[in-house]
Amino acid sequence: MGATQRVLLGVSGSIAVYKAADLARRLMDRDLDVQVAMTHSAQRFVTPLTFRALTGRPVLTSLWSESQEIEHVERGYDADVLLMAPASANLIARLANGLADDVLTTTALSSQAPLLIAPAMETNMWLHPATRTNVSTLKSRGVVVIEPTSGALASGRSGLGRFPETQDIVQATLAALGTRSSWSGVVLLVTAGPTFEPLDPVRGLTNRSTGAMGIAIADAAHARGAEVHLVLGPTALSPRSGVHLYRVETAAEMLAASEAIVDRADVIVASAAVSDFRPASPSVQKVKKTSAGADTLPLELNPDILTALAARRRAAPGGARATIVGFAAETSALEKHAKAKLAQKGCDFVVANLVGPDRGFGPQETEVLLVSKQGPSEPHGPARKAEVAEFLLDRLRPKEDKRS
Ligand code: CTP
Repeated sequence: MGATQRVLLGVSGSIAVYKAADLARRLMDRDLDVQVAMTHSAQRFVTPLTFRALTGRPVLTSLWSESQEIEHVERGYDADVLLMAPASANLIARLANGLADDVLTTTALSSQAPLLIAPAMETNMWLHPATRTNVSTLKSRGVVVIEPTSGALASGRSGLGRFPETQDIVQATLAALGTRSSWSGVVLLVTAGPTFEPLDPVRGLTNRSTGAMGIAIADAAHARGAEVHLVLGPTALSPRSGVHLYRVETAAEMLAASEAIVDRADVIVASAAVSDFRPASPSVQKVKKTSAGADTLPLELNPDILTALAARRRAAPGGARATIVGFAAETSALEKHAKAKLAQKGCDFVVANLVGPDRGFGPQETEVLLVSKQGPSEPHGPARKAEVAEFLLDRLRPKEDKRS
């Protein structure tokens, strides 16, 4: 695989901190680049010097020291995985509540890398309903919880809450990094958002799509190492990651921008809500209500972008190996419509979801059905679009493994 992968090891206050020193070494043994960040409590158990000596890097300890102020956020953005080990009950609560009150939590909020936590605490704290709720919240956001084990606790008592075995933490970290690079070398083309078909210089035909789902897929695939090209209709939303972004307005522009990339695409995801029709002859001047014919709207059919891209990709070299994914936004009979679109548009998969004025669009949760020739998946969700994106990427693997 390419460059060395980077782990941000966040160490919080627990007697198990001493085990994190060994963990840092074991991660480095696997050729990982380890940057340690410590909470104030952690520093009362072990000094940053220990980790500095082990990793050869200054430890991030504060948001406020002059030299590190900006650096911690950059390191957060830089890391390929965030590993909080040991994660105290307090750190888990702060992460679950989205606080940004120290280097660890601020980094967790600013980074898009996968987050893993290896809890260590007294049994009563681990089993407390507050901790249970916080852990479930984190799990629902896709955080990997490396479950604590049962046995002698550092306090001398015995029970559940023991820091997981170092080798299990290393394995979980490597697995998260493997997922992260699982799309490396893959070229992904995503269409997303609505289209806007002008009637005159101030009005047009459009729809309620925000592009949130397609943007989430683009960001998640970028995080997994894909080369992502996002062709995005008019929306206030933007991708968070460094994908190649092409902002377009009309269906014709969306098709043209997509055609420039499609021959190289290994996976095509058409999530855009394309206007089926456009005004046949948009007016150059603003149409007045008194204008002749202002009460009728002659329309013509837009190209079907997905069908055109699928046909073109299939005909180009390597086309048989490309994975083509359509969306079906329906108000009823989800599975039936999705199956019909699968066949009509030459797709390998159709992601079907129910839409209406109060569901399917925007940043809220969504529920999808992934339909292939083999049939539909179990419904997935309701879940956040970022989480649905991970679900889809796990299943829309490129047909040929292009990893080096
Ligand atoms: N699509 C497209 N170009 C169009 C219309 C649709 O690329 N002109 C794509 C969408 O991006 C989506 C799939 O086709 O992946 C299904 O879109 P949808 O609007 O649900 O279906 P339509 O083909 O427009 O059919 P209908 O409106 O009759 O349900």
